Amino acid sequence: MPTPQIVTPASALAPKERLIIALDVPSAAEAQKVVLQIGDAAVFYKVGFQLFTVAGPDFVRELASSGKKIFLDLKVHEIPNTAAAAVKSAASLNVQMVTVHASGGSKMLRAAVEAATSAGQTQGKDAPVILAVTVLTSLANEDLPEIGLNVSAREQVVRLAKVAHSAGCGGVVASPEEVGAIRNAVGEQMLIVTPGIRPAGSEKGDQSRIATPAEAIRSGATHLVVGRPITKASDPAEAARNIVNEIAGAK
Ligand code: C5P
Repeated sequence: MPTPQIVTPASALAPKERLIIALDVPSAAEAQKVVLQIGDAAVFYKVGFQLFTVAGPDFVRELASSGKKIFLDLKVHEIPNTAAAAVKSAASLNVQMVTVHASGGSKMLRAAVEAATSAGQTQGKDAPVILAVTVLTSLANEDLPEIGLNVSAREQVVRLAKVAHSAGCGGVVASPEEVGAIRNAVGEQMLIVTPGIRPAGSEKGDQSRIATPAEAIRSGATHLVVGRPITKASDPAEAARNIVNEIAGAK
């Protein structure tokens, strides 16, 4: 059993630190434009497959050295040795969060946590938080039997959150609907990062299980991931500030 990751509780985070903007854009130039438009209205960005595949580690290093925090959403799902190596590489880019799939099992999760801890010790700084992805938010109950799961999505989410907790992961990614059930199952010590956030009146896009920023915070989310409602807004900085204000008012 690795030493569980210690994370900063939501009560000690400024509202601005709880908003993560998803840089789901196809090039480094477009991502830089978004970051510039947002300015100091936000500090935390998510870099996922789309951007990382084209812009790569250089973009991530640059964003980190400009003082931004980074959630590297690589959704690692590998044999433990390879998962640990991927986490070690991610830690070398100075990111704050890395995702792994909880369905990779506890050996893989423990290897990821140990790699993060040891990278933090070697570099003399906080280890990246290993965030476990439970069930993809695009999967509904009726999609689970074909992949051999004869339980509801919620049961599977809670089951995997418990596996992640026992393996020492610092947090999980979950849809707003699942936050309460996860909190009950794992207690207050883990981060819960939720996509599927739609400020009142904005487009749903392809999100189905959605909540407003205030609803997600009140149900126990520590961080919100918001993409298009900010990046596609006519004034992204204002959209970000409005969400930060909503987070601040949702206590
Ligand atoms: O929909 P939005 O642009 O706010 O999405 C932000 C992030 O939320 C995406 O980068 C994606 O990883 C995640 N997402 C999700 N489930 C969906 C759609 C998006 O978890 N159905």
